[in-house]
Amino acid sequence: FVRNFSTSGLKKNAIKNVTIIGGGLMGAGIAQVAASTGHSVVMVDQNTDILNKSKANIEKSLQRVVKKKYAEDPKAGEAFLSQVLGNLALETDAATSVKKADLVIEAIVENLKIKQELFKNLDMAAPASTIFASNTSSIPIKEIAVATERADRFGGLHYFNPVPMMKLLEVIRIPQTSDETFDKLLAFGKAMGKVTVNCKDTPGFIVNRLLVPYMMEAVRMVERGEATPKDVDTAMKLGAGYPMGPFELTDYVGLDTCKFIIDGWHEKYPDHPLFAPSPLLNKYVAEGKLGNKVGEGFYKSKK
Ligand code: 3HC
Repeated sequence: FVRNFSTSGLKKNAIKNVTIIGGGLMGAGIAQVAASTGHSVVMVDQNTDILNKSKANIEKSLQRVVKKKYAEDPKAGEAFLSQVLGNLALETDAATSVKKADLVIEAIVENLKIKQELFKNLDMAAPASTIFASNTSSIPIKEIAVATERADRFGGLHYFNPVPMMKLLEVIRIPQTSDETFDKLLAFGKAMGKVTVNCKDTPGFIVNRLLVPYMMEAVRMVERGEATPKDVDTAMKLGAGYPMGPFELTDYVGLDTCKFIIDGWHEKYPDHPLFAPSPLLNKYVAEGKLGNKVGEGFYKSKK
């Protein structure tokens, strides 16, 4: 976390006003970190109920950060907290929210049509200089960008859960993304305190391209009766040094999210064995066992 949380700490010409569309787990995490690093943030969702819940989650997460970072100086911690919350505004109207935006980050439902519709409207409402980015984990950026007239000012910013803790940011460019746009996105990532990697617009970029097939293969091991989820998790944590085993991670990310990603890739590349769907994963999703967010996935968990 960067300590100079006032907006004056940002470089001249840097991205300062950021609009985040979507107040889900990812959107709230992005909003939190952007506000914590001195950006002026507007978080958008469909209604104030959702927005208030997101804001409460942000506050909870900030409390955890503050408790650690400012253990010696609770007063400074309180000042940090109120500064960060002061950098965060809530809005239900997407078109209004982008009027002053230097950057719009979309983190809504993984549905191409809905994303295209959103960006088409934002393209008309936002200043010409505003850069657009999607946090999609599975839809090609170029297919979203076609809905706008600003493909040169379009890219991908792919974050990882939990956003306040994970240091990586994948920055994705499509062939039309201008160098200026890409450089600004990289600089923004660094200003958020993230380490950036450059990605092309390929399925899963870098992390998910490796992580999702690995998680799916873990499920297939269980399907084949070779090991239990618990033993696979123990093995990968203690034998490979992963902080979570693949089943804990699938519960954390959401079984529905994993299914969505793999189904999308399977549809596009039906012969690719790494992208094959899993009957066991499909069964869990059909039963509503979506992971930690509902209290049960491969494991029972606290909501
Ligand atoms: N906000 C703020 N702080 C948080 C936090 C959050 N949401 N989550 C964890 N922390 C911090 C806290 O400081 C916590 O200390 P505290 O308990 O005193 O508050 C500290 O992390 C340690 O947390 P835990 O003791 O609960 O657990 P861990 O030590 O296991 O750390 C973890 C948690 C960082 C999530 C770690 O387990 C981890 O790195 N897991 C792997 C996560 C991963 O792989 N993410 C990528 C998923 S893929 C993805 O997101 C892409 C998408 O497209 C699908």
